[in-house]
Amino acid sequence: MKFFIDTADIDAIRAWQSTGLIDGVTTNPTLAAKAGRAFIPLIEDICACISGPVSAEVTATEAEVMVREARILAGIAPNVAVKVPLTRDGLRACRALSDDGIQVNVTLCFSPAQAILAAKAGAAFVSPFVGRLDDIGARGMELIADVMEIYGNYPAFSTEVIVASVRHPVHVVEAARIGADIATVPPDVLDKMYNHPLTDRGVDAFLADWAGLGQSILDPSNTETRA
Ligand code: G3P
Repeated sequence: MKFFIDTADIDAIRAWQSTGLIDGVTTNPTLAAKAGRAFIPLIEDICACISGPVSAEVTATEAEVMVREARILAGIAPNVAVKVPLTRDGLRACRALSDDGIQVNVTLCFSPAQAILAAKAGAAFVSPFVGRLDDIGARGMELIADVMEIYGNYPAFSTEVIVASVRHPVHVVEAARIGADIATVPPDVLDKMYNHPLTDRGVDAFLADWAGLGQSILDPSNTETRA
């Protein structure tokens, strides 16, 4: 399973990139606005600190203008994946851009029917928003299961499923259980994934017992002549 980090916060991206656990980045206009910087230099900086796909979203609504914006974004760096919304114009733009070899992440996907169209349009990625479906009382992870089942019926579909709008670690675990290709995870949810009180308690107990020995692994004198 690949992990993308879902943020435009360059400090958070760098911090998590240094763990070696992150395979890419997703942004959107809301996340870019939170970063409070000029958009193109922001995407340049993000692309410079991670080799995997970096999603940057168009803001036009008409296909022809989307394509013009997408070509500018794709020109920033080879690892830019251009995000377009799952609308008729977004699908038209996706088809044209994919035919030109530009990676497209079709976003704001909320149904299996939409996901089928994204694959037909040649999308490199499709982003079903599970949290927003949960927010309205639907079952976001059922959409992921449906899409993975449908895509599995057609080897010609090369679109990877990015589980997006992730709200908590259970979304990530369920995505992995289903076999989704990628989860794009906000930094705070990534932090929640490794935190466990029993781990903290176990470390404290180990170190308390070790302290009683008065030894240091780093101390070269820490040897015993073997009998
Ligand atoms: O990648 C999409 C994600 O950022 C949307 O999340 O919390 O706005 O539904 P959210």
